[in-house]
Amino acid sequence: MAKKFELNLTQRPRRLRRQHSRRALVAETVLRAEDLIAPLFVVEGKGGREEISSMPGVFRHNIVDLVNECRELHDLGIPAVALFPKLDSELKDAEGSEALNEDTLVLRAVRAVKKAVPELTVITDVALDPYTNHGHDGVLTKALDDVDNDRTVEILCAMAVLQAKAGVDFVAPSDMMDGRVGAIRKALDAAGFTGTGILAYSAKYNSAYYGPFRDAVGSARAAGTNLLSKATYQMNPANRREAIREVQLDISEGADIVMVKPAGPYLDIIREVRNATRTPVAAYQVSGEYSQIKAAAELGWLDLVRCRDEALLAIKRAGADMILTYFAKDVAKALKG
Ligand code: PBG
Repeated sequence: MAKKFELNLTQRPRRLRRQHSRRALVAETVLRAEDLIAPLFVVEGKGGREEISSMPGVFRHNIVDLVNECRELHDLGIPAVALFPKLDSELKDAEGSEALNEDTLVLRAVRAVKKAVPELTVITDVALDPYTNHGHDGVLTKALDDVDNDRTVEILCAMAVLQAKAGVDFVAPSDMMDGRVGAIRKALDAAGFTGTGILAYSAKYNSAYYGPFRDAVGSARAAGTNLLSKATYQMNPANRREAIREVQLDISEGADIVMVKPAGPYLDIIREVRNATRTPVAAYQVSGEYSQIKAAAELGWLDLVRCRDEALLAIKRAGADMILTYFAKDVAKALKG
């Protein structure tokens, strides 16, 4: 008779996976509402909200509706929102001059939100792309052959000071110009805003995953076929060491939080940044990451809730302390039960 097969194992990792309560005891990563930052789009007008066609479930809010949304998010335990304006196209020009209007849409939105929900942390982008008719994050050189780094930084400093004046908690330079974090820190301090933080988009890649966002804020042109590409300032997806260099520069210039963007396809970068610094790390699960899960779920090809939670957990496991995600509200609701 054949001898009974015996493995004689001392270690059986499956013992820790037997039932939910055992798995919960040994879970290494936990997603909390407090980890999430909700990006929100704001528009002019009385229409309440309009759905963004390439981002089902995400809306452009008018200011009144935005304030209600922020109250709800705050009640759900979400600590912060990042506001993005969608401007009427008549307000855009080559210099992005509307960005320096003290009463521009996003600044009115900031004041309204901070007045209604002062406890909520409010973050605004410092970049010119919502304001320029060419869609670039800065102003162009005379020859129109480059984004003019230093002239752009000068404008970004003024923009950041206006945002601080309006009451934001963090300004978030997302333009990838050289030296902007240090210049903005100096400008904020000189204007008396030593308590306003900088959340730096430090390792921001030139990514196709931003497609739906550009649709949302109407800044698609620079992303398209014109000769001057955002690749001249956003990072090459091929690079890893360069991300650490950008992060270290931003920290030395005064960044309070550094960010990696996108998140899901760049988990290795998040981990490497986490290991390289003690500064808090944010990750941005961008529009295309959201939309691809949504679209596949709508086709019945993926389980929306499980994919959503797995994607976010993976970003946290990679080392992100906080995640900007369009799923923020749904996840916070689900966590509340
Ligand atoms: C603008 C900005 C972009 C995003 C955030 N800030 C787009 C871009 O650089 O073209 C993308 C966010 C997303 O895709 O969700 N500077």
